[in-house]
Amino acid sequence: MPYYSDELIEEVRSANDIVDVVSDYVRLQKKGNTYLGLCPFHNEKTPSFSVSRNKQIYHCFGCGAGGNVITFLMQYDNDTFQEALETLAQRAGIELPKQEITAKARQEADKRARILEINKASAKYFYAQLRMEQGKKGMDYFVRRGLSQETLKKFGLGYANKYSDDLYQYLKKQGYEDSFLKDSGVVSIDEQRGGYDKFWNRIIFPIMDANNRVIGFGGRVMGDGEPKYLNSPETMVFDKSRNLYGLNLAKRSRKHSILLCEGYMDVIALHQAGFDNAVASLGTAFTPGHASLLKRYTKEVYCTFDSDSAGIKAALRAIPILKEAGITAKIVKMAPYKDPDEFIKAEGALAYEERIAQAQNSFMFEIEVLEKDYDLKDPESKTAFHNAVAQRILEFEEELERENYIEAVAEKYRIGFENLRKLVMHQGTRVGIAGTTKPLKSGVQERKKKENGMKQSQKLMLTWLIEEPSLFEKIKPWLGPEDFTDELYRQAAEILFSQYQAGKLNPAGIISMFADEEQQREIAGLFHARLKEVTTPAEKGKALQETLIRLKENSISYRSRHLEPADLEGLQKLVADKKNMQKLYQIDWQDAI
Ligand code: UTP
Ligand code: MN
Repeated sequence: MPYYSDELIEEVRSANDIVDVVSDYVRLQKKGNTYLGLCPFHNEKTPSFSVSRNKQIYHCFGCGAGGNVITFLMQYDNDTFQEALETLAQRAGIELPKQEITAKARQEADKRARILEINKASAKYFYAQLRMEQGKKGMDYFVRRGLSQETLKKFGLGYANKYSDDLYQYLKKQGYEDSFLKDSGVVSIDEQRGGYDKFWNRIIFPIMDANNRVIGFGGRVMGDGEPKYLNSPETMVFDKSRNLYGLNLAKRSRKHSILLCEGYMDVIALHQAGFDNAVASLGTAFTPGHASLLKRYTKEVYCTFDSDSAGIKAALRAIPILKEAGITAKIVKMAPYKDPDEFIKAEGALAYEERIAQAQNSFMFEIEVLEKDYDLKDPESKTAFHNAVAQRILEFEEELERENYIEAVAEKYRIGFENLRKLVMHQGTRVGIAGTTKPLKSGVQERKKKENGMKQSQKLMLTWLIEEPSLFEKIKPWLGPEDFTDELYRQAAEILFSQYQAGKLNPAGIISMFADEEQQREIAGLFHARLKEVTTPAEKGKALQETLIRLKENSISYRSRHLEPADLEGLQKLVADKKNMQKLYQIDWQDAI
């Protein structure tokens, strides 16, 4: 990725007014200083999505989405930072500098572009063939399988006729050289026979990457025959372990989860039935590359695999990979049908929706599969099963989570809760896990609650400062960036205070300084805290005073806990701050905001 300077990024950002850009996607209504609309990132009936022209940021009070104009596009289109920046630069007529690259890299890039062109031309050719007289066989097949014309179009489905070199001849006539054609994988070049097509007498599924570029093909025989599906070989542009069929469409879905299936036809049938969030791996097993790709779009994946043993194996393989990537996996059962395609055909979309709702927790699914290896009627085998389960439960490091799984498993397999718990503990001490238990539920929750309250106060202060910059002068003697104890908040506060010193507050600019999407979201929330409806100046003053006192007290306690013994300066400041606390109570903050 080319490197763009902070100045250039800032130029592009500020050239695109956030209200204008968001208005292209969301219907906004002006309300006071902000614009309100229905949040595009979660389903809602009353608007909680707010865009501020002054601050050039957006924030949703419902789902917590937030950021500046760049992150908006990243979120809305699931673009990378680079892609969003390019779109915005174009929109504002700013030219982004091309990166200097080596001759070799240039050559590779050219080749890649050429292969993509060949793929696109081939896809168009197959697409046209399907609609011609000789494509009737393919069209009949698709129709027999229940695909609508709209679906054929959406997926760009096509047909490779029974001539074995017509695509090759066509591409040659278009001016593509043998060397490129060979590397594209759509034809083979043989010394003796010359060029011939990879696909013939098959219906064709073009495979698109997330950016809608054709990167390869799958071809299915019509009827029986081996192999059932023939796929393009891996090429410079086709990496099967990093692409998912249907992702180009699913990434635009407004649903928050992804349906992961096994087959091309499953994806297509699901989309046709309204499940526009379905994807499939490309005739290969699910890989960590797939998981990290999905991570960009979702936190929750429903595995909707075939109900046969291969499907179960595929699920068992995918679960730990998804977990590792931080994605929650759930298992949708298709039995008694073979796969989602057949399920939908037999039972319809509503029934499928129900199956999603009943999807099984991935751990419980794993235990269910494990159970099949044991005979629960036999006491010895049953004990062995319980031991195996206890062993698996130990994988959960959080005590609370462990307890919850003990409860769920105990209930399902009718093991006494205490018995199972003891068994887990026993195995835990053996491997030395249970000894290091994490704090109990109530303790964790108490601490979380306090933390959240403190974060809220820090947020509120940052929002006030931005909405009322004159406040900086008034609070400066009392509060500085170092009083924001949350690491991310402190960084944001530091930038904000220095922007104020330099005389130009720019909250939206701060957001782009953070690389991580999660952080950008949080920062936008910082500058956009929901202000309580305090009406009178006296009330406002009181709210400000209370917040200041809370922040300062928290900061003092935090610093005394973290003070280095040798840090004399820190100690002096701490003592001074403590002494000053009294005055904080006495000042009249009325009219400060
Ligand atoms: P399936 O055999 O379950 O195919 O293989 P399917 O999608 O249900 O196909 P239909 O309904 O019979 O038309 C699942 C996936 O495995 C890959 C393909 O990606 C297929 O969609 N596969 C299967 C191959 O790559 N080659 C094969 O020979 C078979
Ligand atoms: Mn099928």
